[in-house]
Amino acid sequence: MTDSAKQDQVLIFDTTLRDGEQSPGATMTHDEKLEIATMLDEMGVDIIEAGFPIASEGDFAAVSDIAKNSVNSVICGLSRAAFGDIDRCWEAVKHAAQPRIHTFIGTSPLHRAIPNLTQDEMADKIHETVSHARNLCDNVQWSPMDATRTEHDYLCRVVEIAIKAGATTINIPDTVGYTAPRESADLIRMLIEKVPGADEIIFSTHCHNDLGMATANSLAAVEAGARQIECTINGLGERAGNTALEEVVMALKVRNDIMPFKTGIDTTKIMNISRRVASVSGFPVQYNKAIVGKNAFAHESGIHQDGMLKNAETFEIMRPEDVGLSETNLVMGKHSGRAALRAKLRDLGYELADNQLKDVFVRFKALADRKKEVFDDDLIALMTDSTSDV
Ligand code: KIV
Ligand code: ZN
Repeated sequence: MTDSAKQDQVLIFDTTLRDGEQSPGATMTHDEKLEIATMLDEMGVDIIEAGFPIASEGDFAAVSDIAKNSVNSVICGLSRAAFGDIDRCWEAVKHAAQPRIHTFIGTSPLHRAIPNLTQDEMADKIHETVSHARNLCDNVQWSPMDATRTEHDYLCRVVEIAIKAGATTINIPDTVGYTAPRESADLIRMLIEKVPGADEIIFSTHCHNDLGMATANSLAAVEAGARQIECTINGLGERAGNTALEEVVMALKVRNDIMPFKTGIDTTKIMNISRRVASVSGFPVQYNKAIVGKNAFAHESGIHQDGMLKNAETFEIMRPEDVGLSETNLVMGKHSGRAALRAKLRDLGYELADNQLKDVFVRFKALADRKKEVFDDDLIALMTDSTSDV
């Protein structure tokens, strides 16, 4: 690990435009990809994986244009372990101020069986292809796909080969979302301890969410020494998705007391990019999604609303402004109490005496029993009726 990585900085590698876009149906247009890349750069993402240049002419064009327009972020392209792929990737990323080639091969027994390579044949291929990438670019990332289901001794062997061939980042993918937090940490720790040269490079974690553990697995890997997290906005990605950028970044910010690591992300830009990615990918964010879901900062129950009105920390561990929201949303419904109704009406310009509030509250509850949510307009109508009754 390099000096800076030994410290507390965790690099954020966003792969929304590559692994995220691989999600069936999430294809984005050229202009949309450029727009998202600009937003990622502006929010402080360290590395943007812009696409898979050999995959199509369109992917190639998007990666090259993102590279040409890049400002602060490293721009990375993905390539299989083949000279042609790597050359094509380099052609696309070379325009960036800071280019990176990412090359990978499946190392688990299941994945080795596909090209039908022996362990030795695959080891040679890794040496050749990583060396080739390093001859083109100073910044090379290598991934043993399905690392979490690869035999440990073989994983150590191929990681060592990749480091010797010039890889500067070793990414450990949990390709099928199979690992669990303790195992994720143990794997990174084992690699750092056993592989010669491990202290010269950055270890990265790349988790999928098939068992809903991608965020926990990524954070466990960081605690064990990984200093790059691969993730996507809204957790977009194949099957159950990838680690969600907003979750790992906010977890490291909110629980810095027990996970003393920092990222360079401007968290106030999270909500905006989340909405934009949802819109361009056509994948809406579930209401109760951590950090960016519609209900993540919304409260309906009377006890919660009362607590929130007295002290927001009672029921919120983050401030909505920290993720780019202007305020907490007190949703008016049948679970809401008198204090929230009074506060809501005050916002709408109605200051009520206790006896007036008592009367309006009864009508409000009757209405809330008939409607899932009582909107501002409903309350205004209720108040208009109350005033005309007088
Ligand atoms: O999940 C995975 O293994 C990948 C690699 C290509 C890094 O996305
Ligand atoms: Zn992946």
